[in-house]
Amino acid sequence: MHILVTGGLGYIGSHTVVALIEKGYTITIVDNLSNSSLSVLDRIARITGTKPAFYQLDLQDAAGLDDIFSIAPVDAVIHFAGLKAVGESIQRPLTYYRVNIDSTLTLLEAMRAHDVHKLVFSSSATVYGSAPIPYSEESLVGQGITNPYGQTKYMIEQILRDVAQSDPDAEFSLLRYFNPVGAHPSGLIGEDPKGTPNNLMPFVAQVASGQREKLSIFGDSYPTPDGTCIRDYIHVMDLAEGHVAALEHIRPGATAYNLGSGIGTSVLELVHAFIDATGKDVAYEIAPPRAGDLPEFYANPDLAASELGWSTTRSVEDMCRDTWAWQTNSAKTRL
Ligand code: NAD
Ligand code: WQD
Repeated sequence: MHILVTGGLGYIGSHTVVALIEKGYTITIVDNLSNSSLSVLDRIARITGTKPAFYQLDLQDAAGLDDIFSIAPVDAVIHFAGLKAVGESIQRPLTYYRVNIDSTLTLLEAMRAHDVHKLVFSSSATVYGSAPIPYSEESLVGQGITNPYGQTKYMIEQILRDVAQSDPDAEFSLLRYFNPVGAHPSGLIGEDPKGTPNNLMPFVAQVASGQREKLSIFGDSYPTPDGTCIRDYIHVMDLAEGHVAALEHIRPGATAYNLGSGIGTSVLELVHAFIDATGKDVAYEIAPPRAGDLPEFYANPDLAASELGWSTTRSVEDMCRDTWAWQTNSAKTRL
């Protein structure tokens, strides 16, 4: 089976490509390298022994995409490509709406033109906004989303539902990721944020490695047991395997699945787990809360377990250990 992976050289895409190759799938990657590097292709080849076909292309380039669908005998698409920085989306909403929505529309039109009807889409727990926790797929979506990035995920989900309604052959999976962290255990691929990391785990890793002096913990007076925010962290290899399961159990229509562990971990718990797993010190201070942060959310992961036969197997300790392996190895492997 031949899978077109958009954004396949990015953080989650690259790990999913590894999981797919290891399951015997043939891969074509399309990525414009706006947030990734060509060296990831070589590292995928080092891990798997297979170098996937790669096209450097912006997904908004309809003619270029049409050419790729004409060359590659695509059976299904996994669509990771898009912009994902929450804060940047507040500063540059037009860019986020243009890139994320337009890329998806262009992709859907190319799929329609080439008779491809299976799609797995990278959605996000952010679509639940202010719904009560734990979030289940039946929870209300679209209320209380605090940024344009999250709105694009919500809008694309709606677009996919409308397209699925119009196409009796459509089989779409909408995967709502919780907080992806960690790296491939080889330390060869991982998350490589440009500039100051926005997310907790890469920041912790950079403090542990001495690249940054200390972590600011955004608030310790939330209504949680230790006062810091609680999230559902998921190892990126569990997430990658979730995509394989979604593909193997894809069904008619548009179906949303939570990909999370169902377990909440506070910021302080994560920091201490990292110190325990790596033996490295992580200096931190308590800072004011960050605008838009919810005190607590985590998944009800039951639907993915029952319908996809998938659940997480890796612990927070695994996430910390593999993040550290990537942090320490990546300087050597970065080309
Ligand atoms: P990433 O930035 O590492 O990967 C995205 C990839 O898409 C990059 O390689 C980038 O170069 C490419 N890309 C961006 N715009 C493109 C375009 N117009 N045309 C072609 N390629 C383009 O991000 P990631 O963390 O791997 O996230 C992948 C997907 O998962 C995104 O859609 C993101 O919104 C979603 N998601 C991520 C998280 C997270 O915390 N990382 C959580 C929920 C959902
Ligand atoms: C986790 C916790 C912070 C950095 C974001 C997006 C979400 C999804 C995943 C794409 C929070 C705290 C963080 C720091 C800290 N992405 N923190 N100091 O905000 O849960 O989710 O990424 O869909 O849409 O919003 O993840 O890693 O930024 O933060 O104290 O330097 O760590 O306040 O409680 P978040 P995060």
